[in-house]
Amino acid sequence: MLLQNHTVLITGAGSGLGLGVAKYCKAQGATVIVTDIATEKLAYIAADFGEQDLLLACDVTKITDLELCKQHIVEKYGRLDAVIGAQGIFDGNRPILTMNAPDLDQMFDELFHINVKGYLLTAHIFADLLKQNHGALVLTTSTAAYAADGGGAVYTATKGAIRSLIQQLAFEFAPHIRVNGVAPAAIGNSQLKGPKALNLDNEKQSDIPKDAFLNLFQSISLLQQLPDATDYGEIYAFLASKQNKIMTGQTIVADQGLLNRAVLTQH
Ligand SMILES: NC(=O)c1ccc[n+]([C@@H]2O[C@H](COP(=O)([O-])OP(=O)(O)OC[C@H]3O[C@@H](n4cnc5c(N)ncnc54)[C@H](O)[C@@H]3O)[C@@H](O)[C@H]2O)c1
Repeated sequence: MLLQNHTVLITGAGSGLGLGVAKYCKAQGATVIVTDIATEKLAYIAADFGEQDLLLACDVTKITDLELCKQHIVEKYGRLDAVIGAQGIFDGNRPILTMNAPDLDQMFDELFHINVKGYLLTAHIFADLLKQNHGALVLTTSTAAYAADGGGAVYTATKGAIRSLIQQLAFEFAPHIRVNGVAPAAIGNSQLKGPKALNLDNEKQSDIPKDAFLNLFQSISLLQQLPDATDYGEIYAFLASKQNKIMTGQTIVADQGLLNRAVLTQH
């Protein structure tokens, strides 16, 4: 049990990666604080968690929400061992020249607020609690931060920013808090939405039929499996746990071998 006696906060955990990771952490002995902006998702998943856990509405772009969440954690547990950041939205993989400039302007603010500022504010607000317990911060970037065509320019820029933020926060928070990240390539049961700026906030990645996504992914990744959110659980749980005594400032690229090839030979 990697997370016995650990209290772990997961942001953006109403569906997809965050939910899978929260369930995995719980199975590894953690008490979990599951937060998301989408209250209907929290109501839907409530039965998966117990009385010792907390499910809280929290918009990570709002300082007041984050502080309220912290207050609940202090009152109920008096401690926090790890924060796992998993929220995000996508840009619909749109080339920038297919949009007009005002839409691009608006979409930039929307994505950077959720995908970057949300992680930065969360880190700032929970750092003192984490420091008290020699805790861990685990952030979510993407293979989009390493190679083109993992998203459009704005999504890719947000994920590159998180990759750099992991390094800088590991430096600023050392030696008290270990800061690491995970860069997934694809998540089978994701609900990842697009931005309001492009009217894509009702379109989800899960609307892509799984078979079509799997076929595409199989044709380009080495392991030829489309992982589910819980498949990422072990990596996050290890980085969040006190078992990790050896890594800070690093991002684990969990990509099924996607980036480990130049596309010359068909498998
Ligand atoms: N889906 C993929 O293939 C993929 C690949 C690489 C990386 N990622 C990253 O994984 C993370 C999780 O995405 P997912 O695919 O599980 O999508 P998801 O939509 O299922 O989960 C993201 C959650 O973030 C929440 N959220 C959005 N804005 C928020 C805010 N302001 N405050 C709090 N919560 C907010 C959403 O309500 C949602 O529940 C994201 O950072 C995404 O960029 C996803």
